Amino acid sequence: MSEISRRSALKALGLATASAVVGSSTLKDNLLGGESLSQVFPQIPAEDNLFPFEGVHQAGILTDPPDAILVASLQVIPTTLDGLVQIMKILTERIRALMAGQLGPVVDESDQFPPKNTGDMGYDQLNEGHLTILVGLGSSLFIQGGQDRFGLAAKKPLALKPMPRDLIGDKLNPDLLDGDILLEISSDHPLENMHALRDILRNTKGLLSPLWMQPGFQRHQKNVPVGQANVRTVLGFKDGTTNLDVNNDDLMNTMVWTGTEEPSWAQGGTYMALRLIRESIEHWDRQSLESQQNSIGRYKVSGASLDNITEVQLPDYADDPDGNTVPLDAHIRKANPRLGPESEKRRILRRGYMYLNGFDKSGLLDGGAIFHAFCRNVEEQFEYIKRNYMTNRNFPKTNTGVQDLDEYMFAVGGGYFFIPAGVQSDGRFLADALLLG
Ligand code: HEM
Repeated sequence: MSEISRRSALKALGLATASAVVGSSTLKDNLLGGESLSQVFPQIPAEDNLFPFEGVHQAGILTDPPDAILVASLQVIPTTLDGLVQIMKILTERIRALMAGQLGPVVDESDQFPPKNTGDMGYDQLNEGHLTILVGLGSSLFIQGGQDRFGLAAKKPLALKPMPRDLIGDKLNPDLLDGDILLEISSDHPLENMHALRDILRNTKGLLSPLWMQPGFQRHQKNVPVGQANVRTVLGFKDGTTNLDVNNDDLMNTMVWTGTEEPSWAQGGTYMALRLIRESIEHWDRQSLESQQNSIGRYKVSGASLDNITEVQLPDYADDPDGNTVPLDAHIRKANPRLGPESEKRRILRRGYMYLNGFDKSGLLDGGAIFHAFCRNVEEQFEYIKRNYMTNRNFPKTNTGVQDLDEYMFAVGGGYFFIPAGVQSDGRFLADALLLG
C-alpha cells in the first residue's frame, strides 16, 4: 500500500492519528485491504529504551540519566487557577505522548493547518531515546511579589523559595534565574530534546512563555562496576562516586522523597536545586595535577580519595584531622565532611551535566556544569552544605577558608523547584492534587 493510499484510508475513517487505530484489530482488514497494521506501522519492541511516564515519582530522577539535557524555565501567562489546570493537563498529555515515542505520521493533517508533528524526528513511532521530561514548580507559582497569584499560597511546599541571592561566590545573571515552571528534558540526543520542547511550546502557546534555557551534555560510560562513577566533570574528575544509591528505597525515602512534613499533595515529591555553574576552564587547565587533586580531594585518573588506593574505599577524615592527606578545603571534604548523623542527613542526590555556550567576550570558554541536587528539603540539605560547609571559612576548622574549588567556579543561574509526585493513572494529571484538592 502506498503512503498516499494509507493516508486516504485512515482519513476516510476519520481517525485522529495512526496510533489511535493500532490495536483496533476488527477494522484492520477493511481499512488496509488485508495488510496487517503491524506490517504498515511496524512496532519495534521498546525494550528498555523508553521510560514509562506513569509512576509513583516522575521519571528523570531515579532513571538512568541519558547523555543530552535541556532545561527550560517558563512563565505562566494566565492569571486564574483554571488556566494553570489547563497548562498542567496539556503538559501531562504531551509528556505522556512524547515519552511513549509518539511522533505521528501525517495521516489526519489538513493541508490548511500547521502539521501536528514538527517532523524534525521523522514520522515513525520512536522506540528509543530514553526521553524523560521532568516538571518542576517554582515558588512564584505560590507567591510572587507578596501576591497569592492562584490562591495556592497556603499549599506551598515548606522549603520552596526563590534561589537565594546571597550564596557566597555566586555571580548571578538575573536573566537566568528561577521561573514558574521548569522543564527538564533529557534523552539520548539533543534533537529529541529540542523536538520535545518545540512540541510543548506550540501546544502551550499563549499559556506559557519562555524565560531561559540551557542545553547540556554528558558522556555516560556503560558497564561501569557498581560503586564507581560512570561520568566525569568538566574538570576531568570522576563524578558520582559517592552519590546516593538510587536503588536503595530506604535511602531515597529518607533523603529524597518528601513525607508527612509536607502538605498532603506535596508528599512523594522532591526538591531540585538546579545550578548553572560557570567553570574557569582555562585557569583550571593550567593547574598542576597535584593541585587539581588537592582541590577535589581525589586522584584524577582512578577517582580514589587521596587517603585511599581505590575509588570505592571511603575516606577517613577522623584519621586525618589536620588535612595532611585530604586537605581541609578539598571539595569532597567540604561537601561531605563525614561527621556521622549530622552530615549524613545533609546528603543529596546529584545529577551532573556540562554545558558549553561558546566563548565569552574575553575569548574564554563559557562552559561549566548544570548541577542538580535532589533533596527532601532543599534548605536542610543542598543549602546547608553550601552555606555551612563549603563556603564557611571556619569549617571544618578555624581559618580553613572556603573550598579551594571556588577559585574555579561560580554559579551564574538556576533555581529551586519543587518536583511533584508522578502521575499514576490515565485520568490524573501533574500536580492535580495541588490544583483540584
Ligand atoms: C562545577 C561544580 C562542581 C564540580 C566540578 C564538582 C565535582 C565533584 C567531584 C569531582 C566529586 C568527587 C566524586 C564524587 O564523589 O562524586 C564531587 C563530589 C561531591 N560534590 Fe561536587 N562538584 C561541583 C559542585 C557541587 C556542588 C554545588 C555541591 C553541593 C552543594 C556538590 C556536592 C558534592 C557532594 C555532596 C559530593 C560527594 C562528597 C562525598 O560524599 O565524599 N558539588 N563533586
